[in-house]
Amino acid sequence: MRRHDGAYAKIPGEANLKILVTGAAGFIGSTLAGALLGRGDEVVGLDNFNDYYSPARKRANIAPLLRNPRFRLIEGDFSDPAIARDAVAWKPAAIAHIGAMGSVRYSVKNPALFVQVNIVGTANLLEAARLAGVPHFVFASTSSVYGQTDKIPFVEGDPTDRPLAPYPASKKAGEIMGYAYHNMHGMSFTALRFFNVYGPKGRPDMMPYIVTDSLVHGKEITLFDAGAMRRDWTFVGDILEGVIAAIDKPLGYEIINLGRGEPIDMNAFVHIAEEIADKKAIIRVAPAPASEPKVTFANVDKARRLLAYNPRVSVREGLARFWEWYTKEAMAPPATASTD
Ligand SMILES: NC(=O)c1ccc[n+]([C@@H]2O[C@H](COP(=O)([O-])OP(=O)(O)OC[C@H]3O[C@@H](n4cnc5c(N)ncnc54)[C@H](O)[C@@H]3O)[C@@H](O)[C@H]2O)c1
Repeated sequence: MRRHDGAYAKIPGEANLKILVTGAAGFIGSTLAGALLGRGDEVVGLDNFNDYYSPARKRANIAPLLRNPRFRLIEGDFSDPAIARDAVAWKPAAIAHIGAMGSVRYSVKNPALFVQVNIVGTANLLEAARLAGVPHFVFASTSSVYGQTDKIPFVEGDPTDRPLAPYPASKKAGEIMGYAYHNMHGMSFTALRFFNVYGPKGRPDMMPYIVTDSLVHGKEITLFDAGAMRRDWTFVGDILEGVIAAIDKPLGYEIINLGRGEPIDMNAFVHIAEEIADKKAIIRVAPAPASEPKVTFANVDKARRLLAYNPRVSVREGLARFWEWYTKEAMAPPATASTD
């Protein structure tokens, strides 16, 4: 439950939880861990600080958490089963498995890495959870599992057996493995399909960062399909509301979209960023790669019903908050862009 001051409140009378957050140094994981600590929970964070993007940025993300006595960091790789077992040995009430390799286009070049981290790693954590008797597992999945489709908005029951790249295929595998653990061991498993998450601490390989950074430094921005691709940009604060509600409420086995439900095309997105930065973009257009869907568009009825989810932050407001963070944190841009 989110209060109007932005903090995440507990349901009155509820005890503090012990929660394992994987990917705790990343964009969403560090924001989630901070929000859970903020409401009084005890958090163990697991991250391997890989160099897909700057490990220094991940250290900066996690620095404020390390000052909290209710936070403990395990530095390690969950695709090693011994690390996964260690991370779960303290018997958390729930695992928020946020850590992953997360870029569609990087997965095309590095499929084995995505199998190892996203499939083997998730299987390791599920098995470790079973051995330790952890009853509840929340899994960060993605809108990319819907692939290329004209059927919009995306509903959880839509076909997801045509992923466009290894990344969504690996996330789909995680969703399915979760069902096996629910079926065999009664573990509660909630897969949350995030749609194009952005906000402060946002990933430097994603369009909100790249567009902002390019505007500031007068660099060219590549837009696929002449900017016609539509994305359902969802502010991280809204996503967290859904994630925390999912942590608090074991549901058996569920797959739930967390998006905003109001996609905009990339031209409009860049235009808003131009207004916020008060700069003009230099645009280069290119054909979209086969890994990119034309649209992402969440139907969030199920999240509203099961998690009282209510996304509130418009792209204009969210990008303004991103801008505020970015202008205090100037860092070098990465080489490739991603919208997932
Ligand atoms: N950002 C989005 O728009 C978006 C959209 C859909 C789904 N997701 C999913 O949300 C989750 C978080 O995404 P993010 O944008 O915060 O990405 P991120 O890259 O910032 O965070 C992922 C973190 O996981 C860590 N990690 C990766 N492999 C690991 C391993 N083997 N062992 C331990 N730690 C490991 C990384 O070091 C990183 O800190 C991911 O599962 C991603 O697939 C994100």
